[in-house]
Amino acid sequence: MSISVHLLVLSLLLVIGSYDDDVQFFVYGVVDEYRRDDFPAEFVFGSGTSAYQVEGAVLEDGRSFSIWDTFAHSGYYNGANGDVACDGYHKYKEDIQLIADTGLEAYRFSISWSRLIPNGRGPVNVMGLQFYNDFINRLIANGIQPHVTLHHDDLPQILEDEYGGWLSRKSMKDFVAYADVCFREFGDRVLHWTSFNEANVFALGGYDMGFSPPGRCSSPFGVFINCSRGDSTSEPYLAAHHLLLAHASAVRLYREKYKAMQHGFVGINVLSYWFEPYTNTTEDVKATERANDFYLGWFLNPLVNGDYPEIVKKNAGNRIPSFTKIESERVKGSFDFFGINHYNNFYVKDNPSSLETDIRDVNADMAATLISADGGSEPLPTQFPVTPSGLQNLLNYLKEEYGNPPIYIHENGQVQARNGTLMDTARVEYLHAYIGALLDALRNGSNTRGYFAWSLLDLFELLGGYNIGYGLYYVDLDDKELTRYPKLSAHWYANFLKGHNVTAIIPSLNLTKDSFVSSH
Ligand SMILES: *[C@@H]1O[C@H](CO)[C@@H](O)[C@H](O)[C@H]1NC(C)=O
Ligand SMILES: *[C@@H]1O[C@H](CO)[C@@H](O)[C@H](O)[C@H]1NC(C)=O
Ligand SMILES: *[C@@H]1O[C@H](CO)[C@@H](O)[C@H](O)[C@H]1NC(C)=O
Ligand SMILES: *[C@@H]1O[C@H](CO)[C@@H](O)[C@H](O)[C@H]1NC(C)=O
Ligand SMILES: *[C@@H]1O[C@H](CO)[C@@H](O)[C@H](O)[C@H]1NC(C)=O
Ligand SMILES: *[C@@H]1O[C@H](CO)[C@@H](O)[C@H](O)[C@H]1NC(C)=O
Repeated sequence: MSISVHLLVLSLLLVIGSYDDDVQFFVYGVVDEYRRDDFPAEFVFGSGTSAYQVEGAVLEDGRSFSIWDTFAHSGYYNGANGDVACDGYHKYKEDIQLIADTGLEAYRFSISWSRLIPNGRGPVNVMGLQFYNDFINRLIANGIQPHVTLHHDDLPQILEDEYGGWLSRKSMKDFVAYADVCFREFGDRVLHWTSFNEANVFALGGYDMGFSPPGRCSSPFGVFINCSRGDSTSEPYLAAHHLLLAHASAVRLYREKYKAMQHGFVGINVLSYWFEPYTNTTEDVKATERANDFYLGWFLNPLVNGDYPEIVKKNAGNRIPSFTKIESERVKGSFDFFGINHYNNFYVKDNPSSLETDIRDVNADMAATLISADGGSEPLPTQFPVTPSGLQNLLNYLKEEYGNPPIYIHENGQVQARNGTLMDTARVEYLHAYIGALLDALRNGSNTRGYFAWSLLDLFELLGGYNIGYGLYYVDLDDKELTRYPKLSAHWYANFLKGHNVTAIIPSLNLTKDSFVSSH
């Protein structure tokens, strides 16, 4: 990020943060001020993680490998993997205490399919069942709502090996059987279910660009990976199609078998940037609509309207499967909410030349170039620009375009290098600004029901492994106890959740500029 953009971001936000080393006070002043009470009482605030990113214990108590274990062990993260992660499988009691101490009202986590059903289908692993039962019971005992994701990039590897995972229609039946076990065993206490985390990124990363499990792609479409197997021109569309059908079938099962008794809700999650046209030319404005259709419409249009957006069907041609009439009817309306992960914005520039070749992936079909809002070329910024109007615009867009569906913001947060500092002022600024934007969107009629800061802990990140972190809590990897330490953001969030005015001075936290746990 260039210095001028830094200055621009700072001046736009009118954020003044300063330290007084003598009294160890953090003085935080912004134009906006709000408190928990400004949000509806039934709105929930929380934070989250996912199974592979925190649990570790990957071959313990009967768990088998998922496609993410395999992907990590293929060397993608230069030797790092989730074998231990935050050791959440053993430290969950301590973690739930942190969750309670922080005042979180809800906690988002995922169930490891290969821990619960190690063969992918068939017998349930009693140890896995007991772990998630204890986990959920402990959350409930502390008054914390569990929000559970069923698939967070971690299909059992055994199903990938057997029939190619999500490329096969067989995956749908196994997913529904797995969902059935979860609804049956945990649905008396879990009311909020999400079928797939970042379904769009899973399809793009896993089958087009190869940067996420199962890491499939074909040349020249791989990003940071040599494509050795896959077909980026068609597999992302095929996998996405099966995700949608599997999701719809799981929702149907829930509605027919459990809804009347359990009264819960089932949704799906997508990653969503906010897109702005790079210029106001008709070409760039149209390219921006296409970007929305390819990123969001790819999943949300079938769910709301029963089919893919016209432009997606047109540009992907026979590489995208079509829904039969029955499938279309099943997919349409098969959601109670949308989970949205949002971090940053992109400018969109028309790129018509990408349609001139027959060998096209999803990005080429989109015929648009995404340009990072901070002007940088880094795919993974060391820090996101703080542009909360993106979230506000996105929530307005979902309201207008998709009939104001219930929304949970499942992930939002600031990334930083993971170097041991607890003074994550940039994260506090980010969270303060985005929660403020959310409040503005709610006041403007958005049907958003909850907000989950990503992430509770510094964990094993999909992009970046252990080099970066979004955590409210730092996990010291040099300490064999993997001790958790609250960052300033944990104190700030707790302060907000306790009902305090978040523009106020945060009292002594015993944190100073020199508060480092260790340096890496
Ligand atoms: C890809 O393959 C090339 C040539 O074999 C090699 O130089 C490069 O390091 C590989 N890149 C990755 C990310 O594996
Ligand atoms: C496009 O037009 C809008 C509204 O007039 C304006 O706010 C925006 O700055 C313009 N964008 C560019 C890139 O010129
Ligand atoms: C850690 O990173 C933050 C920003 O991400 C930076 O301000 C700080 O100086 C770094 N500290 C160390 C010890 O490298
Ligand atoms: C409020 O919503 C309306 C209609 O959805 C939209 O046109 C307007 O820009 C929004 N205002 C703000 C401040 O977000
Ligand atoms: C919030 O705190 C600031 C600074 O202490 C104060 O000026 C402001 O009046 C407070 N607002 C509310 C709503 O309590
Ligand atoms: C800060 O540290 C001092 C000395 O270690 C301790 O007495 C005090 O209770 C701490 N304050 C807080 C708010 O933790």
